Amino acid sequence: MRKIKILTIFGTRPEAIKMAPLVKEIENNNDIFESIVCVTAQHRQMLDQVLELFDIKPDFDLDIMKENQNLWSLTSDVLLKTKNVIDKVKPDVVLVHGDTTTSMAAALSAFYAKIPIGHVEAGLRTFDKYYPFPEEINRVFTDYICTYHFAPTEKSRENLIKSQIPSDNIYKTGNTVIDALLYTTKHYDKDIDGLNLNPELRTILLTSHRRENFGKPIREICEAVLELIDKNKNIEFVYPVHPNPNVKEPVYELLGGKERIHLINPLEYSQFCSLMKKSYIILTDSGGVQEEAPSLGKPVLVLRDTTERPEAVEYGTVKLIGTNKQKIVSAVQYLLDNQEEYKKMSEAVNPYGDGLASRRIVDVLKDIKV
Ligand code: UD1
Ligand code: UDP
Repeated sequence: MRKIKILTIFGTRPEAIKMAPLVKEIENNNDIFESIVCVTAQHRQMLDQVLELFDIKPDFDLDIMKENQNLWSLTSDVLLKTKNVIDKVKPDVVLVHGDTTTSMAAALSAFYAKIPIGHVEAGLRTFDKYYPFPEEINRVFTDYICTYHFAPTEKSRENLIKSQIPSDNIYKTGNTVIDALLYTTKHYDKDIDGLNLNPELRTILLTSHRRENFGKPIREICEAVLELIDKNKNIEFVYPVHPNPNVKEPVYELLGGKERIHLINPLEYSQFCSLMKKSYIILTDSGGVQEEAPSLGKPVLVLRDTTERPEAVEYGTVKLIGTNKQKIVSAVQYLLDNQEEYKKMSEAVNPYGDGLASRRIVDVLKDIKV
């Protein structure tokens, strides 16, 4: 019997982190699978950091990133360029991840070629089409055209059932982000000495990049940081700034050169994991960080009004605080001053996975008939 040909397509940092353990698991079963990896490079530098860490050498690199790219050109570039790859490879199945433009357009490309698609991290929902934008519709759309749905949690499985996805096509696997996190924290303990953090101070880690937060919200986040730094002489902020100009420009304008605020370039994943471990509180609008930080026992305050990841909110380790300046200041101050609350939020929980998600996905893929 011939091998099952799997074409995995991804393009941004979070997709790469979450697909890397799966690519490795497929490669470990090379008696059954032929693995072909295509990166769109929707992100360039941030993708390359992950490829290097996990030693993944793509078979196709579409190199599409442009400075301050827009959704229209990004979508059409992914659609047209992945068509050429699919025509050439003729895969038995295409794997995509999550909710980015790469995922949605690559899935559409495979659908037009009538190739079955596996959706990793299927079923996440806020049920609000503009939050997050355009990700909510990207994942709804991708779920509808996929054949194999790899739902990370029970809630995501239920969301797929509510969306009329046949239950036989849904596999609850856990999230591969925990595979990546456990692997990375076990094999690398990168030092973060180069960041010049002060061991006497409490470190607050901040990340922000969502489109909904461009403009006023990002400015309010920065103003909240300034007020907190002024009020608390025992804290410092570390902010690996996303290279998107809509983020970078206001952040450097408002926070650049200020005492106890470290603005740094995006960190390589293993270093970022070390930084999460060292941090006292994490402030973020990132999806992946909401999933990782609870496993490390770090309280997370989310700079958004809704989340498609309600599990850790229910466990009490993640809180939604939005982007209003005063709300951010109050939420952080409360956590800094209230040991009881801090202890409650810093309990290590792992609602998103056990490190075996990739193995479960591969077990499903092994049964594909070719
Ligand atoms: C994308 C995803 C979002 C995901 C985020 C993770 C879409 C619509 N959005 O948003 O779901 O949460 O990635 O970070 O797919 N840039 C660089 N170098 C890089 C990466 C980005 O310079 O390595 C800059 C470029 O100017 C680029 C811009 O950031 O044009 C925006 O990148 P893009 O992928 O369009 O949007 P993100 O905000 O990163
Ligand atoms: N991350 C990283 N370096 C950084 C910041 C984040 O490696 O400087 C990792 C983080 O641990 C998580 C992923 O990037 O796994 C999240 O990516 P991002 O926030 O860009 O996207 P989202 O998860 O919101 O889609």
